[in-house]
Amino acid sequence: MKKQIITTADGSKTIHFPEWNESYHSKHGAIQEAQHVYIKSGLDFRCKRHQSSSLSVLEFGFGTGLNAYLTAIYAKENQVKITYHSVEKFPLSQQEISDFNFDKILKTKQIDFNKLHETEWESPLKINDSFQLKKILADFQSFTSKDKYDVIFFDAFGSRVQPELWVKPILQNCYDMLSKHGVWVTYSCKGSVRRDLEDIGFKVEKIAGPPGKREMLRAIKF
Ligand SMILES: C[S@@+](CC[C@H](N)C(=O)[O-])C[C@H]1O[C@@H](n2cnc3c(N)ncnc32)[C@H](O)[C@@H]1O
Repeated sequence: MKKQIITTADGSKTIHFPEWNESYHSKHGAIQEAQHVYIKSGLDFRCKRHQSSSLSVLEFGFGTGLNAYLTAIYAKENQVKITYHSVEKFPLSQQEISDFNFDKILKTKQIDFNKLHETEWESPLKINDSFQLKKILADFQSFTSKDKYDVIFFDAFGSRVQPELWVKPILQNCYDMLSKHGVWVTYSCKGSVRRDLEDIGFKVEKIAGPPGKREMLRAIKF
Protein backbone atom coordinates (compact mmCIF):
# COMPACT_ATOMS: atom_id res chain seq x y z
CA MET A 1 0.00 0.00 0.00
CA LYS A 2 1.22 3.52 -0.80
CA LYS A 3 2.83 5.38 2.12
CA GLN A 4 3.52 9.11 2.53
CA ILE A 5 5.67 10.91 5.10
CA ILE A 6 3.65 13.77 6.61
CA THR A 7 4.51 16.49 9.12
CA THR A 8 2.17 16.67 12.12
CA ALA A 9 1.16 19.79 14.09
CA ASP A 10 4.10 19.66 16.53
CA GLY A 11 6.58 19.44 13.64
CA SER A 12 7.29 15.72 14.05
CA LYS A 13 6.90 13.44 11.04
CA THR A 14 4.91 10.27 10.67
CA ILE A 15 3.64 7.86 8.02
CA HIS A 16 0.27 8.21 6.35
CA PHE A 17 -1.64 5.69 4.22
CA PRO A 18 -3.79 7.73 1.79
CA GLU A 19 -5.93 4.72 0.80
CA TRP A 20 -6.89 4.09 4.41
CA ASN A 21 -6.77 7.76 5.44
CA GLU A 22 -4.89 6.40 8.48
CA SER A 23 -1.54 7.41 10.00
CA TYR A 24 0.94 5.94 12.47
CA HIS A 25 0.26 8.94 14.74
CA SER A 26 -2.20 11.78 15.21
CA LYS A 27 -1.91 14.65 12.75
CA HIS A 28 -2.26 16.92 15.82
CA GLY A 29 1.29 15.96 16.84
CA ALA A 30 3.05 12.59 16.75
CA ILE A 31 5.41 13.31 19.63
CA GLN A 32 2.70 15.01 21.70
CA GLU A 33 0.36 12.07 21.22
CA ALA A 34 2.96 9.43 22.10
CA GLN A 35 4.14 11.45 25.09
CA HIS A 36 0.63 11.90 26.45
CA VAL A 37 -0.90 8.46 25.76
CA TYR A 38 1.97 6.10 26.37
CA ILE A 39 4.59 7.88 28.45
CA LYS A 40 2.53 10.08 30.77
CA SER A 41 -0.71 8.05 31.03
CA GLY A 42 0.89 4.60 30.92
CA LEU A 43 4.55 4.43 31.89
CA ASP A 44 4.82 7.41 34.24
CA PHE A 45 1.44 6.57 35.83
CA ARG A 46 2.62 3.01 36.62
CA CYS A 47 6.08 4.11 37.81
CA LYS A 48 4.78 6.81 40.19
CA ARG A 49 1.93 4.66 41.50
CA HIS A 50 4.27 1.88 42.61
CA GLN A 51 7.48 3.88 42.91
CA SER A 52 9.09 1.40 40.55
CA SER A 53 12.82 1.44 40.00
CA SER A 54 12.54 -1.20 37.28
CA LEU A 55 9.75 -2.39 35.04
CA SER A 56 8.90 -4.12 31.79
CA VAL A 57 6.93 -2.74 28.86
CA LEU A 58 5.30 -4.57 25.94
CA GLU A 59 4.36 -2.57 22.86
CA PHE A 60 1.96 -3.66 20.13
CA GLY A 61 3.35 -1.96 17.01
CA PHE A 62 7.02 -0.88 16.95
CA GLY A 63 6.42 1.21 13.81
CA THR A 64 8.65 4.29 13.75
CA GLY A 65 10.20 3.42 17.12
CA LEU A 66 8.89 6.66 18.63
CA ASN A 67 7.35 5.05 21.72
CA ALA A 68 10.52 3.05 22.32
CA TYR A 69 12.62 6.18 21.90
CA LEU A 70 10.52 8.23 24.35
CA THR A 71 10.59 5.34 26.83
CA ALA A 72 14.39 5.11 26.61
CA ILE A 73 14.64 8.85 27.30
CA TYR A 74 12.21 8.50 30.23
CA ALA A 75 14.23 5.61 31.66
CA LYS A 76 17.45 7.61 31.58
CA GLU A 77 15.96 10.83 32.95
CA ASN A 78 14.10 9.07 35.77
CA GLN A 79 16.74 6.44 36.54
CA VAL A 80 14.32 3.57 36.02
CA LYS A 81 15.54 0.31 34.47
CA ILE A 82 13.20 -0.65 31.65
CA THR A 83 12.99 -3.85 29.63
CA TYR A 84 11.06 -3.07 26.44
CA HIS A 85 9.62 -5.69 24.09
CA SER A 86 7.91 -4.53 20.92
CA VAL A 87 5.89 -6.62 18.45
CA GLU A 88 5.80 -5.69 14.76
CA LYS A 89 4.78 -7.54 11.62
CA PHE A 90 5.71 -4.97 8.97
CA PRO A 91 9.08 -3.34 9.84
CA LEU A 92 9.88 -0.08 8.08
CA SER A 93 12.83 0.16 5.69
CA GLN A 94 16.03 2.05 6.53
CA GLN A 95 15.06 4.62 3.90
CA GLU A 96 11.74 5.31 5.64
CA ILE A 97 13.39 5.48 9.05
CA SER A 98 15.90 8.05 7.83
CA ASP A 99 13.02 10.47 7.12
CA PHE A 100 11.99 10.83 10.77
CA ASN A 101 13.05 13.86 12.80
CA PHE A 102 12.14 12.93 16.39
CA ASP A 103 15.70 13.41 17.68
CA LYS A 104 15.97 16.85 16.07
CA ILE A 105 12.64 18.00 17.52
CA LEU A 106 13.39 16.64 20.99
CA LYS A 107 16.94 18.01 20.83
CA THR A 108 18.23 15.19 22.97
CA LYS A 109 21.47 13.34 22.55
CA GLN A 110 20.76 10.99 25.45
CA ILE A 111 19.64 8.13 23.20
CA ASP A 112 20.71 7.38 19.64
CA PHE A 113 17.41 6.97 17.73
CA ASN A 114 19.06 5.00 14.91
CA LYS A 115 20.44 2.46 17.35
CA LEU A 116 16.88 1.38 18.19
CA HIS A 117 16.36 0.52 14.53
CA GLU A 118 19.75 -1.10 14.02
CA THR A 119 19.19 -3.74 16.73
CA GLU A 120 18.54 -7.21 15.34
CA TRP A 121 15.01 -8.55 15.51
CA GLU A 122 14.52 -11.17 18.27
CA SER A 123 17.85 -10.33 19.98
CA PRO A 124 17.66 -8.36 23.21
CA LEU A 125 20.09 -5.45 23.21
CA LYS A 126 21.16 -3.24 26.10
CA ILE A 127 20.94 0.29 24.71
CA ASN A 128 22.38 1.70 27.96
CA ASP A 129 22.26 0.94 31.71
CA SER A 130 18.60 1.87 31.93
CA PHE A 131 17.08 0.54 28.71
CA GLN A 132 17.04 -2.89 27.08
CA LEU A 133 15.16 -3.45 23.82
CA LYS A 134 13.88 -6.59 22.11
CA LYS A 135 11.99 -6.22 18.82
CA ILE A 136 9.81 -9.22 18.01
CA LEU A 137 8.75 -10.00 14.46
CA ALA A 138 5.24 -11.37 14.95
CA ASP A 139 1.55 -10.90 14.32
CA PHE A 140 -0.56 -9.43 17.13
CA GLN A 141 -3.11 -12.16 16.48
CA SER A 142 -0.76 -15.02 17.29
CA PHE A 143 1.79 -13.39 19.60
CA THR A 144 1.87 -14.55 23.17
CA SER A 145 4.53 -14.64 25.84
CA LYS A 146 5.31 -16.29 29.15
CA ASP A 147 6.95 -13.03 30.26
CA LYS A 148 4.84 -10.77 32.43
CA TYR A 149 4.74 -7.04 31.68
CA ASP A 150 3.99 -4.08 33.94
CA VAL A 151 2.78 -1.83 31.12
CA ILE A 152 1.30 -2.57 27.69
CA PHE A 153 1.23 0.09 24.97
CA PHE A 154 -1.57 -0.97 22.61
CA ASP A 155 -0.74 0.98 19.46
CA ALA A 156 -2.45 -0.86 16.62
CA PHE A 157 -4.00 1.04 13.72
CA GLY A 158 -7.56 2.17 14.41
CA SER A 159 -10.44 -0.29 14.55
CA ARG A 160 -11.94 1.37 11.46
CA VAL A 161 -9.15 -0.14 9.35
CA GLN A 162 -8.02 -3.11 11.48
CA PRO A 163 -11.13 -4.24 13.43
CA GLU A 164 -9.64 -7.74 13.81
CA LEU A 165 -7.01 -6.39 16.26
CA TRP A 166 -9.45 -4.77 18.72
CA VAL A 167 -11.20 -7.95 19.78
CA LYS A 168 -11.70 -9.76 23.07
CA PRO A 169 -9.21 -12.66 22.51
CA ILE A 170 -6.37 -10.17 21.86
CA LEU A 171 -7.40 -8.04 24.86
CA GLN A 172 -7.62 -11.19 27.00
CA ASN A 173 -4.10 -12.12 25.86
CA CYS A 174 -2.94 -8.66 27.01
CA TYR A 175 -4.58 -9.23 30.40
CA ASP A 176 -2.85 -12.60 30.76
CA MET A 177 0.56 -11.10 29.93
CA LEU A 178 0.24 -8.27 32.47
CA SER A 179 1.61 -8.51 35.99
CA LYS A 180 -0.58 -7.63 38.98
CA HIS A 181 -1.37 -3.90 38.90
CA GLY A 182 -0.26 -3.88 35.27
CA VAL A 183 -1.44 -0.99 33.12
CA TRP A 184 -2.77 -1.21 29.53
CA VAL A 185 -3.10 2.03 27.55
CA THR A 186 -4.28 3.07 24.12
CA TYR A 187 -5.24 6.23 22.25
CA SER A 188 -8.65 4.74 21.41
CA CYS A 189 -11.84 5.26 23.39
CA LYS A 190 -14.01 2.77 21.52
CA GLY A 191 -17.06 1.62 23.50
CA SER A 192 -16.87 -2.06 22.54
CA VAL A 193 -13.19 -2.17 23.57
CA ARG A 194 -14.01 -0.58 26.94
CA ARG A 195 -16.80 -3.11 27.54
CA ASP A 196 -14.59 -6.07 26.53
CA LEU A 197 -11.83 -4.85 28.87
CA GLU A 198 -14.32 -4.62 31.75
CA ASP A 199 -15.72 -8.10 30.99
CA ILE A 200 -12.20 -9.51 31.08
CA GLY A 201 -11.67 -8.09 34.57
CA PHE A 202 -9.81 -4.81 34.06
CA LYS A 203 -10.67 -1.65 35.94
CA VAL A 204 -11.13 0.74 33.01
CA GLU A 205 -10.75 4.50 33.05
CA LYS A 206 -11.67 7.00 30.36
CA ILE A 207 -9.10 9.74 30.73
CA ALA A 208 -8.27 12.97 28.92
CA GLY A 209 -6.80 12.29 25.49
CA PRO A 210 -3.91 13.94 23.64
CA PRO A 211 -4.39 17.13 21.55
CA GLY A 212 -7.28 16.65 19.12
CA LYS A 213 -8.83 13.76 21.08
CA ARG A 214 -11.18 14.18 24.02
CA GLU A 215 -10.70 10.80 25.68
CA MET A 216 -8.56 7.66 25.66
CA LEU A 217 -8.59 4.38 27.59
CA ARG A 218 -6.46 3.13 30.44
CA ALA A 219 -7.11 -0.28 31.96
CA ILE A 220 -5.60 -1.66 35.17
CA LYS A 221 -5.28 -5.31 36.17
CA PHE A 222 -6.15 -6.10 39.79
C1 LIG B 1 -0.27 2.94 14.82
S1 LIG B 1 1.18 2.17 14.18
C2 LIG B 1 2.26 2.08 15.58
C3 LIG B 1 3.14 3.25 15.80
C4 LIG B 1 4.32 2.96 16.66
N1 LIG B 1 3.99 2.56 17.99
C5 LIG B 1 5.26 4.14 16.64
O1 LIG B 1 5.65 4.62 17.73
O2 LIG B 1 5.61 4.55 15.56
C6 LIG B 1 0.64 0.46 14.13
C7 LIG B 1 1.77 -0.52 13.93
O3 LIG B 1 1.25 -1.85 14.01
C8 LIG B 1 1.84 -2.64 12.97
N2 LIG B 1 0.90 -3.75 12.67
C9 LIG B 1 -0.26 -3.65 11.97
N3 LIG B 1 -0.88 -4.85 11.95
C10 LIG B 1 -0.11 -5.70 12.65
C11 LIG B 1 -0.25 -7.07 13.02
N4 LIG B 1 -1.29 -7.80 12.62
N5 LIG B 1 0.73 -7.63 13.76
C12 LIG B 1 1.81 -6.91 14.15
N6 LIG B 1 2.00 -5.60 13.83
C13 LIG B 1 1.04 -5.00 13.11
C14 LIG B 1 2.03 -1.67 11.85
O4 LIG B 1 3.00 -2.11 10.93
C15 LIG B 1 2.44 -0.40 12.58
O5 LIG B 1 3.82 -0.33 12.76
